Amino acid sequence: ADPSAVAPALLDWYDRHRRDLPWRAKPGEAPDPYRVWLSEVMLQQTTVATVRPRFVAWTQRWPTFADLAAADEAEVMAAWAGLGYYARARNLLAAARVIATEHGGALPRTEDALRQLPGFGAYTAAAVAAIAFGERAVVVDANVERVVARLFAISTPLPAARPAIRAATDRITPEQRAGDFAQAMMDLGQAVCTVRRPRCLLCPLSAHCAAQASGESERLPFKKAK
Ligand code: ADE
Repeated sequence: ADPSAVAPALLDWYDRHRRDLPWRAKPGEAPDPYRVWLSEVMLQQTTVATVRPRFVAWTQRWPTFADLAAADEAEVMAAWAGLGYYARARNLLAAARVIATEHGGALPRTEDALRQLPGFGAYTAAAVAAIAFGERAVVVDANVERVVARLFAISTPLPAARPAIRAATDRITPEQRAGDFAQAMMDLGQAVCTVRRPRCLLCPLSAHCAAQASGESERLPFKKAK
C-alpha cells in the first residue's frame, strides 16, 4: 500500500458517505468540542445505535460544559443509567467542573493537555484533539485497528501488534482533516471493513489493501489464543 494514497481515497469516500450523526458537525461547520467529547466517551463501550438517542437527551438537558458542571451528581448518574461503566459518567462531571473552574469553560486543544483531565485516556485525548480541534492526532480504536491490520496485512496477533498498528496509522494520518480521517476510518470499520464478511467490493481502499491482495481480509487481525 502507498501510505500517501490512503487518506485522499478515504476522505473522498467520507465526503460521499458520511453518516449524519447528532455529534458530527455538518460539512463546513465547526465541531462543538463539548459534543465531540461527550460522544467519544459514550461511544467507548457502547454502540452508535444505543448512544444516539441517549446523546440527544443528554445534550438537551445539559447543552454546554457550564450546564454539566453545574449539574447534580445523582442526576448525572441517573441520566447515564443503562450505558454501563459508570466511572465514565463520574469522570464526565469531574472533567466538566475542572474545565469550568480551571480552563475558562473551554477544552484545551492538544492531546497532552487533554490527557490531564479526568477520564481522558490516550484514545479520548487523541479523538477529541483530532475531531474537535483538527489536531493531527493518531486515533486508534478497535475499528481502526482492524482496518489498519488488513491494509498492511499485519500478521502479528493482537495485542502484540498494537505498536505496529499505531505506527502504520501514524503513516497514513493526513496533516489536514485529521478528524474527518479518524471518523472515516471508524465508519469504514463499522460499515465496510467488518469483522465478518468484509465488503471489500464496496471499499474505497481495496486497491491499497495488502490483505485484499493476498485474500486474507477476513482472517486479519489475528488474536492471540486465550
Ligand atoms: N466510534 C467512536 N467514535 C466515533 C465517531 N466519532 N463516529 C463513529 N463511530 C465512532
